[in-house]
Amino acid sequence: MAFAQLSTLIALVFGAAQFVAAAPPRKIRCADGNVTSNAVCCQLFPVVANLQENLFDGAQCGEEAHSALRLSFHDAIGFSIHGGKGGGADGSILAFNDTELQFHANGGIDDIVAGQFPVFQTTNLSPGDFVHLAAAVGTANCPGAPQLEFFFGRPPPKAPAPDLTVPEPTDSVDAIIERFADAGFAPDEIVALLSSHTVAAADVVDVTIPGTPFDSTPFTFDTQIFVETLLVGTLFPGNGSQSGEVLSPIPGEMRLQSDFELARDPRTACLWQAMINDQTRMQTQFKAAMAKLEVLGQRNLVDCSDVVPVPPPFRGQAMFPATFSRRDIQQACQATPFPTLETIPGPETSVPPVPGS
Ligand code: HEM
Repeated sequence: MAFAQLSTLIALVFGAAQFVAAAPPRKIRCADGNVTSNAVCCQLFPVVANLQENLFDGAQCGEEAHSALRLSFHDAIGFSIHGGKGGGADGSILAFNDTELQFHANGGIDDIVAGQFPVFQTTNLSPGDFVHLAAAVGTANCPGAPQLEFFFGRPPPKAPAPDLTVPEPTDSVDAIIERFADAGFAPDEIVALLSSHTVAAADVVDVTIPGTPFDSTPFTFDTQIFVETLLVGTLFPGNGSQSGEVLSPIPGEMRLQSDFELARDPRTACLWQAMINDQTRMQTQFKAAMAKLEVLGQRNLVDCSDVVPVPPPFRGQAMFPATFSRRDIQQACQATPFPTLETIPGPETSVPPVPGS
């Protein structure tokens, strides 16, 4: 009898726990009809619309969206888990741009700062909230991207980040891993974050060829970057090139020395290869690493992720570029077989530059 009563009690308690777990998240309807989980997030919907119209050319995955994502990284990585290296994801790169734009690693960032500043001034957001909201919204314009999280409520930045916190393409893998570890990121998270180079182009690595993309599909958040960085190639003689560029076998494409080396380093090569054609893995791991990046150095933020637009899906497959095949891959991970990919039919083509760069 006593046992029966106890089991009934357990069933009731367990049932109640299940009920609580199954309860749908609370939703607030804002005055403009948008729905969010927290009333404080309502003020962000007009900012999202403002960004799409006045910064991202009507929700495009173009140069501004790419650069907004890069800007969020260069802002946030000015941080150390050991202290003394800046306020992290605090918008200091926007607020103290006079200082931070002088840093060598921030070459090319001036355009997006100039583009964001007037839009920022039309909002009531802190610089940090603005920079990291813009990154999440810009990324959402790229088909195949995950819907990034956005946490709201950063105070104004106190000071510029110090120089030498942003990795450079000429850095060794040891130096890159060390810098990311100092900011709290493991090698797997570096690979995950570098999914971002699937929507990227370089303006200042080689100023004679602005807008040169890192993969053949710079407007799609696909896994193509992980294939193309593994295509045959060699470092420049000596210890890499001066600029951080490695010749790509694909005409019109640029390869960063750092991406080339991370794709082949034993600490990062297996995840690099595993990302190929695994859109879900890339989305999940990139989203998780970005969620960590965008709150570096921040506390007491409110989850406003539901203001971030849902990105269009990518339903294609990773492919070998035309005329390339498995023979052209420099496989660095021996633990798993290289995925089977088809080759884009037709003759070799050149990748056009990203307009607006
Ligand atoms: C080892 C770490 C990294 C290095 C060495 C690196 C280096 C670079 C360089 C040299 C460029 C081209 C700049 C130019 O010439 O205009 C670039 C572009 C870019 N990077 Fe990275 N990056 C790194 C990590 C990241 C991370 C973690 C993110 C974001 C999470 C990111 C996002 C981007 C984007 C989106 C672009 C393209 C910007 C545009 O097209 O305007 N990068 N990166």
